[in-house]
Amino acid sequence: MKRQPLIVANWKMHKQLKEALEFVRELRRLGADQLRDRTVVLCAPATALLALSEVLKDSAIRLGAQNAHWEQAGAFTGEISPTQLLDVGCSYVILGHSERREHFAETDDRVRQKLRAALCAGLHPIVCVGERGEEREAQRTHRVLERQIGVGLGDLAPTELGKMAVAYEPVWAIGTGVTARPDQAQQAQQFIRSCVAKAYGPEAAQALRILYGGSVQPDHMDSLLAQPDVDGALVGGASLSAQDFWRIISFHSQLTPTHGSV
Ligand code: 13P
Repeated sequence: MKRQPLIVANWKMHKQLKEALEFVRELRRLGADQLRDRTVVLCAPATALLALSEVLKDSAIRLGAQNAHWEQAGAFTGEISPTQLLDVGCSYVILGHSERREHFAETDDRVRQKLRAALCAGLHPIVCVGERGEEREAQRTHRVLERQIGVGLGDLAPTELGKMAVAYEPVWAIGTGVTARPDQAQQAQQFIRSCVAKAYGPEAAQALRILYGGSVQPDHMDSLLAQPDVDGALVGGASLSAQDFWRIISFHSQLTPTHGSV
């Protein structure tokens, strides 16, 4: 089964509203709406979501958030629920990013609760997993991934795997300029798919899109996406420039930038 590539920008806590809108204008000018054989998602800060959803109404570019709560409503000061994200035009949400695990003490249990809530609301969750550098050195990568997938995905219905994605983001590769080699990404992502197959069956595992994230640059895309278990990318730093992100999303593409007005 051929899975459609999914390329996701994670802007983290960057961009004022004006910059976010300028980015979208530029990305569309370069031709992002013409890329019909792949899905492109911008995961923006919450402050920019509503305005971005207005300008993306007639666009192929999808909108996502970087986190969501595990309840749809309630007394949770400062939090945002999956239903509220849907309400302002999001269709995707990143869950369990390593920065949330590290700075906000998110556990695999919490990720599972958030995943359930996001799916219930009708969002497409992107669940992040990945080992730390010292865990890789101690040859514990598989053990860590097995736990993050086992506990973090919990008891999904097999059909739900097709509505979500997993992002393999080795912590040692995030924001360091050290990208995992394509064979390292493939090895880990093949392992992730095998864990999913064990729990939910081979058909569900084949439907799941597994992205690679960690210091992705435009030049890495062809070799990463050539790996059989790499179905896309989750991009931090290089997604902040519309030019760089365009080069990332137009990998393998025959399209050249269009310069018409959008
Ligand atoms: P960088 O691409 O900046 O390494 O960030 C990766 C990431 O954390 C995406 O979620």
